[in-house]
Amino acid sequence: MVEPKFFETIAPAYDFLTRLFMGGTYESMRKRMLNEDTSQMDILDLCCGTGYISNSINARRIVGLDQSEAMLARNARVKRGNKELIKGNAYQINFKEGEFDRIYNSSASHEFKLFSRLLQKSFHALKPGGKIIIFDIYQPKNTLLRLFMNTFVKYVVERGIMFVHTKEEWARMVTEAGFEIEELEPVRGLYIFVKARKPEQAGLPAAA
Ligand SMILES: C[S@@+](CC[C@H](N)C(=O)[O-])C[C@H]1O[C@@H](n2cnc3c(N)ncnc32)[C@H](O)[C@@H]1O
Repeated sequence: MVEPKFFETIAPAYDFLTRLFMGGTYESMRKRMLNEDTSQMDILDLCCGTGYISNSINARRIVGLDQSEAMLARNARVKRGNKELIKGNAYQINFKEGEFDRIYNSSASHEFKLFSRLLQKSFHALKPGGKIIIFDIYQPKNTLLRLFMNTFVKYVVERGIMFVHTKEEWARMVTEAGFEIEELEPVRGLYIFVKARKPEQAGLPAAA
């Protein structure tokens, strides 16, 4: 995790640096996150940044939430009639129950000490049958990659604080929030891809 003001400074170079750091993973993961027809869906890009998802996705309604004014300003350079950008803290914002068909959280989970809270909020904000799609760095199993993650990535890229989880921890967090896991897969040793679904019956009263 970096100080919020870090993003205020880095925003102009963010896209360039991320592409450089992630190499081919940058485009391939976006393709994987957006590999379905979402044109008639309402979507939330949670921690949207400069618009990695919100400026690429085809959707009926696009809501981008981020706490960084500078990242949002970069995002807003791409004009889209159905896009709404909200400045706010993801821990504090409350969306209506069942407001979205899809929630995307890309490269941001490691910023949150209590990411399970965001999972709970996302569960609430999704329609029954809706899905959350997450992509980020994770805690690798491989010893060398683990060393790389917990030294270079942690201290050079993330300035000393980051919250990354093993595949098993991801499975537990997502399940505990009430989701059914559809995909949970490490990618290229350093990243994790998660697609999880809010069960259809989750929207019904307990007695039904
Ligand atoms: C590494 S960037 C990822 C941006 C974008 N999702 C992407 O894939 O390029 C992380 C983003 O999370 C945002 N962020 C961090 N903590 C946040 C919080 N508590 N509430 C809202 N946004 C937050 C930062 O401002 C930043 O734009």
